[in-house]
Amino acid sequence: MKVLLTGHQGYLGTVMAPMLAESGHDVTGLDTGLFADCVIGPAPVDPDTLAVDLRDVTPEHLEGFDAVIHLAALSNDPLGALAPQITYDINHAASVRLARAAKEAGVSRFLYASTCSVYGSAGDGLVTEDAPLNPLTPYAESKVRVEADVSELADDSFSPSYLRNATAFGFSPRLRADIVLNNLVGHAVLTGEVKVLSDGTPWRPLVHARDIATAFVRTLEAPADAIHDRAFNVGTEANNVTVAEIAQAVADTVPGSRLSITGETGADPRSYRVDFSLIRQVLPGYDATWSIADGAAELFDHYTRHGLTQESFEQRFTRLAVLKRRQAEGSLDESMRPLIR
Ligand SMILES: NC(=O)c1ccc[n+]([C@@H]2O[C@H](COP(=O)([O-])OP(=O)(O)OC[C@H]3O[C@@H](n4cnc5c(N)ncnc54)[C@H](O)[C@@H]3O)[C@@H](O)[C@H]2O)c1
Repeated sequence: MKVLLTGHQGYLGTVMAPMLAESGHDVTGLDTGLFADCVIGPAPVDPDTLAVDLRDVTPEHLEGFDAVIHLAALSNDPLGALAPQITYDINHAASVRLARAAKEAGVSRFLYASTCSVYGSAGDGLVTEDAPLNPLTPYAESKVRVEADVSELADDSFSPSYLRNATAFGFSPRLRADIVLNNLVGHAVLTGEVKVLSDGTPWRPLVHARDIATAFVRTLEAPADAIHDRAFNVGTEANNVTVAEIAQAVADTVPGSRLSITGETGADPRSYRVDFSLIRQVLPGYDATWSIADGAAELFDHYTRHGLTQESFEQRFTRLAVLKRRQAEGSLDESMRPLIR
C-alpha cells in the first residue's frame, strides 16, 4: 500500500517506517522534525519526507495514498500541561482536519495512535475497549476527542481504527528518555540508582516500540470489516505492572544499581490495568512479545555502547527540554513551528 506516516521522525515513527517498508509498503513521511536530531547511535535513514506542519495539511498533500498512519503529536503529559492550547490545536484539531482531508482525497484507511491513558484511573480490574474513558490530562483528553470526532467520518469509503497503545519502551534510533522504562534504565546507568519518586503503586501497562509497530502493520493489512471504526488496546497482559515492579526489573538488569522508592510525589492518580485480548483475536497470530526484562537489557546495551551522557539524557532525549531549548535559541516559535530549517 502507499502509506503516509505522520510523525515518522519521532521515537515510534523511526522504528515503524522501516518495518512498513520491509512489509512491502511504499512509505512517505510527514513531520516538521522537532526531534530529528535526537539520535542515539548510527543515524537512521528516513523515507521521502513532506516537511509540512500537521496544521497546514490539505487534501492535495494526501492524494494518491491508500492509508494514513497518524503518529504526529505533542506526545506526553508534561508537554500537554506546558502548552494545553497548542496540544489541542495539534493533537486534536489538526488530527481531525487530517482525517477529513484524507477522506476527501480518497484515502480509505486511517490508523490513529491513541493511548491507554484514555482510561485514566481505572482501579485494579482489567479494562477492555468498552470501558468508560476517564482522561486525566490535556494529552489524554485530546486522544479521546480525536477518536470520537474521527469516528463520525467512518463510512463505506473510509475506515479509521484507533490503536490505544500502552506506554512504550525500548530502543529507537530516535530515543525518548522521558518514558518510564527508558528513563529508569538511563538513570541507573548514569547514577547507579533506580529512583522512583512516586510511591510505586500505580499500574502502568508497557509495550515495546517494535510490538506497537507490528500492530500498526498488521492493522493496515487486515480486512476492512475487521478494523472498521474500532479501538484496540495494544500491549500484553504480561506487561501490566506497577511502577515498583518496573523499577525492580531495572535494578535486576543494571549491574550494581540500587532501588529507591522515595514516595516524595505521593500517589499518582493515573493507574489502569488493560485487557489486550481483542487485538489478538482480530489480528490472528499477533502478540506483543517483548518482556520488560528484555527491553531493559536492550536499553542497557544501547546506552552503554553508544555512551549515554547525563547531558544527552536530560537534554537531547527529553521531549520537553528539547522544545524549551529550541524556543530559547529561536529555532522554534511559541506555537511549536520551526523557524529555521
Ligand atoms: N511513546 C509512547 O509511550 C506512546 C504511547 C501511546 C501513544 N503514543 C502516541 O504515539 C505517537 C508517537 O509517539 P512518539 O513517542 O513517537 O512521540 P515523539 O514525540 O517521539 O514523535 C512525535 C513526532 O511528531 C512530530 N510532530 C509534532 N507536532 C507536529 C506538527 N505540528 N506537524 C508535524 N509533525 C509534528 C514531531 O516532530 C515528532 O517527530 C503520538 O501520537 C503519541 O501520543 C505514544
